[in-house]
Parts: sequence; structure tokens; C-alpha cells
Amino acid sequence: MSETSPKLRAVLDGIPTYKPGKPAAADGPVAYKLSSNENPYPPLPGVMESALAAAAAFNRYPDMACTGLMNELSERFGVPVSHLATGTGSVGVAQQLIQSTAGPGDEVMYAWRSFEAYPIITQISGATSVQVPLTPGDVHDLDAMADAITERTRLIFVCNPNNPTGTVVRRAALERFLDRVPSDVLVVLDEAYREFIRDTEVPDGVEIYRDRPNVAVLRTFSKAYGLAGLRVGFAIAHEPVALALRKTAVPFGVSQLAQDAAVASLRAEDELLGRVGSLVCERTRVYEGLVGQGWTVPETQANFVWLRLGERTVQFAAACEQAGVVVRPFPGEGVRVTIGEAEANDIFLRTAEAFRKEQY
Ligand SMILES: Cc1ncc(COP(=O)(O)O)c(C=O)c1O
Repeated sequence: MSETSPKLRAVLDGIPTYKPGKPAAADGPVAYKLSSNENPYPPLPGVMESALAAAAAFNRYPDMACTGLMNELSERFGVPVSHLATGTGSVGVAQQLIQSTAGPGDEVMYAWRSFEAYPIITQISGATSVQVPLTPGDVHDLDAMADAITERTRLIFVCNPNNPTGTVVRRAALERFLDRVPSDVLVVLDEAYREFIRDTEVPDGVEIYRDRPNVAVLRTFSKAYGLAGLRVGFAIAHEPVALALRKTAVPFGVSQLAQDAAVASLRAEDELLGRVGSLVCERTRVYEGLVGQGWTVPETQANFVWLRLGERTVQFAAACEQAGVVVRPFPGEGVRVTIGEAEANDIFLRTAEAFRKEQY
């Protein structure tokens, strides 16, 4: 037997591993998970029924073309089916977008800090990440991003609202930026949290993409629609890009449970968006509570808040966990805290208040 191990691609060396939000403790005091930007509401009964009905046939492969879901999305967004592509969560579609555009020698650009999957999926492709720092106010620095475009740039992510800061890019700034991007560079508007936006100056990516062949929009059923565990997301993009996404898709990647639950969710959209409205009210309460306690919090349009705690980050996260809420620390930078159940948000606010009195 040979002693050598199989040759693995060198680009995998040093790849940052994706850190999932820590789960709430199974034992111990009440514990709430505010670490993964999930929807705290349980599945709607009708959505659950659809998924369970699909489960009865899971000896069969799912519909590879996601026909029912594609038709439903086409109608809902007023776009042709040929402009749609689905995947295993929007992170799956994001990876397909990179696979479709960039390889060794190419550059993928995004703001930093932003969604932590971007560096991982870029590195897997062999392309080079170009990370453009957020402004001191934690907003995308679109001028700096436009200045950083080179002949090697193939794809640019604009995460709107940005994970983990919750900050947004508004219409005028985005249009100005897009006017500066060469037409052969794909701009991906990652709108995983779109439904939580209340700022009317933030454009709907689906409107932006219509007149711009180099713009694609990423959406997910994981957040507002509460299907994180079923793994289904989609892109809206012009035909050549949507076609490339179909070529790079893992065959049968979206389960029939996910497809049918997504269709049922679109049909129950009013009810689901009502839940989003309640979460947005809670977000306002948490945001104002923190500001009232003296914290500087970037204005958030997502289902989470960002506290820049610097060196105190890990200590703060530990205090939260002790109190019964698990948050998402980025050591040395800050914590991201998902808006959850009112009781969870109360615990978080009380902990933040006590921590501030003790530490500042
Ligand atoms: C900005 C952003 N994009 C994409 C995703 C991926 O979500 P999913 O793969 O569940 O659709 C997330 C998840 O946290 C996110 O924050």
C-alpha cells in the first residue's frame, strides 16, 4: 500500500472553514439561538403539510428542473423562467455564480466584512478574493470598490443589506456604482434579507437587474420564509447567466420537500410577511433599546444587529450565553445578534445593558 495521500488542490490549503452559528444549549437554562439569522417562527401548518406530502415520495428523485417552483417564481417576480435558477440555498447559487465566472487568475470582489461564505467559495474556485473594507460607518465603500476593479475582475458581490452589519446601499449610490462597472463583469446583488428592508431608498434588485444584463439578484427562502433547513434559494439573472447556473448546478440539488415547501410559502406570502413585520417591530425595539443604553449601532435593515465590541467581543458573547442567548461573535471585531423571539430579545437587551454598565 502506498504511503502517499491523494493529491489535493493546493487552493484548498488554508481555506477558512465556515463557522455555523453555535446552537442553543440542549440542557441548562432557557437558551435561544440568535447566532444564525434564522426565522424564530415555526413552519406554517400549510407549508409543513406540503413538505410532509412530498416526503411520502422521497424514494424518488426530485423534479430536476424545479418546474413548479420556477413557474411560481416567474409569476411572482414577473420574470421569464429562462431568467431563473435555483440551488441548495442561496449560498449554493452563489457558488455556482463563481464557478460560472471565475477561476485561477481571476478576481472576485466583495466588501469586508461581509458574508463569510464569500472568501470560502472564492478560494475553492481558485480565483483570488479582493476584499474592500467597509467605511468607518460599516457601509459598502462603493467608490473604493469601483476603483479596485481590474482586468481580472469577474464577479462583484454587493450584499444588501450587508451581513453582519445590517447596513444598506441606497438606489443612487448603487446606480452610480453600476454605471462604473464594465459590462462584462457580473455584479451579484445578494438580497438574502430583502424582505426585512423598510428604507424606501433601498432599491429592489429585481428592478435593477431588468435593464442591466450584467446584474444578477440572489434571494433565499431561508430567512423571511423560514425554510433555512430545507436549503433552497434562487437567482434572477439574464439568460446567459441563468443558463450557466443550470450548467453548474448539482443535479437534483433541491429536494422535492424544499421545492414544494417553497411553492407553499409563496402562496402563503401574506402570512409569512406578516411575521416579518413583527420581526421588524422587534428589530426597532432592540435597536432603540441599545441606542438608549448608549451603544453605537449601525442602522440595520436586516433581521440582526451588529455591535462593534472590538477586544470585548468574546467576553460579551460569553455573557450572552451565560444569560441564555447564543450570539455570533467575530473575535476582535464585534457580535452579530439575530432578532428572535421577544423573550430572547429581552434577555439580550438586559445583558447588553449590564455589560455596558460594567465595562464602559
Ligand atoms: C448575505 C447572505 N447571503 C446568503 C446567505 C445564504 O443563505 P442560504 O444558503 O440559506 O440561502 C446568507 C445566510 O446567512 C447570507 O447572510
